[in-house]
Amino acid sequence: MAKVRTHYVCQSCGATAQRWLGKCPSCDEWNSLVEEKVESTASAAAAPVKGSYSERLGVGVSRGHGYVSLEQELEGDEGASVGRRYTSGIGELDRVLGGGIVRDGFVLLGGDPGVGKSTLLLQMVHGAVKNQKDLKVLYVSGEESVEQIQSRARRLGVRGDGRLFLEAETQFEQVLASVRELKPNLLVLDSLQTFVSNQLESAPGSVSQVREIAARLMHLAKSSGLAVWIIGHVTKDGQIAGPKVVEHMVDTVLYFENEAGQSYRLIRAVKNRFGSARELGVFEMEGEGLKEVTNPSALFLSERATPVAGTAVVATLEGTRPLLVEVQALLCETTLTIPRRTAVGFDGNRLALIAAILQRHAGLTLQKEDLFFNVAGGLKLIEPACDLAAAAAIWSSAQNRAFAQDIAFFGELGLTGEVRKVAYPEVRIEEAKKLGFKAFVLPKGSEARLTKSAGIEVIPIQRLEELERLL
Ligand code: TYD
Ligand code: MG
Repeated sequence: MAKVRTHYVCQSCGATAQRWLGKCPSCDEWNSLVEEKVESTASAAAAPVKGSYSERLGVGVSRGHGYVSLEQELEGDEGASVGRRYTSGIGELDRVLGGGIVRDGFVLLGGDPGVGKSTLLLQMVHGAVKNQKDLKVLYVSGEESVEQIQSRARRLGVRGDGRLFLEAETQFEQVLASVRELKPNLLVLDSLQTFVSNQLESAPGSVSQVREIAARLMHLAKSSGLAVWIIGHVTKDGQIAGPKVVEHMVDTVLYFENEAGQSYRLIRAVKNRFGSARELGVFEMEGEGLKEVTNPSALFLSERATPVAGTAVVATLEGTRPLLVEVQALLCETTLTIPRRTAVGFDGNRLALIAAILQRHAGLTLQKEDLFFNVAGGLKLIEPACDLAAAAAIWSSAQNRAFAQDIAFFGELGLTGEVRKVAYPEVRIEEAKKLGFKAFVLPKGSEARLTKSAGIEVIPIQRLEELERLL
């Protein structure tokens, strides 16, 4: 009997090694090598390699030779690009996707257990079936029984109109058989790590399985115009298991996340071949499933009745959407030789930089102060346009004087203390106006770009020092 040969596969990057190593030689990840069986080359050679994947799967349309002219309308595309998408009936999700579910798109949805991935996709397929009269969906779960999915669907008010099919299965080849038979337009797999292909002997969720299944799904999506959605588990360190190997294969990677203790959920595209990768969608988890939050700014402004020192409101942009978010700073005397700079929801280096600018150009003495910085509501701010509000909050804390409550800020800071212009001032001002803000501090350069009167008091500043008179 032939000896079973094994090798070690890095679960992070997929590199292989002949013996166990503490650190992956390829990606430098620690403790990521896992023993897997070597697939016998004899059986791989015996596997049928006739025809393309789509032929072997028995689904899909052939497009003849591989090349077409740029203008040529492809079969089944119906010309218009809008015809290439299905609406999910969920505005927040459609926007994050760049306008709906792409017909032959391959999408990975990642998130912590319990964040609501299965719920979201069940609601999505409900919307898709409801809004597209001839759409057929196959929802395969490797984690739940059909009864469990049905009872969840009933609770969520999901209806299928006879075009939504459920299957509890973990055998990947069985799923393909169902796809061949049913010919759905949209396939959902919950979750990638639970499926096993009988072509490989390694365990479900191992890098080889995940990579093989993802590669075959990608082919299936592209060759047969089937929209494929897979749910991916996120490991303890916040990555989708078997991460890099899958992320580059899919068209879109979505993350569904939830800040501890908050009832709302954020969905964002971290990669999107069909739209902006900076869009943000906001949901709230309720008894009847996920509800869209159409006015998310309200979530990120703390409920305060009177002006408080150490806070400022920034009008930031998440993709195309303006958001008003409160930032908070707290200074207190340090007990350390080097004072602490601690930021939550904000880049720590950026915070140190802003503190240095304040020291140099606003005359604040922060050498003996610990600085803590927080973004309300657990959002992460990455836009440089948030600099000015961050500086304002720190200044306000240092002076223990508050800004008026109905004032919002945006602007990028330069190292010389100048306030630099940022994009889309009108959009930010519009949102602030809607929420009842009365005044706006913005860079002089951005004021010049406002085409019409803002309908709100605009306070243009050129240098950081000018903030002082507002306190
Ligand atoms: P689920 O979609 O199963 O999460 P995932 O697939 O990401 O693991 O969501 C499970 C959580 O959501 C669970 O903690 C219960 C909660 N939930 C509600 O609060 N309301 C609902 O209507 C549903 C379906 C779930
Ligand atoms: Mg689930």
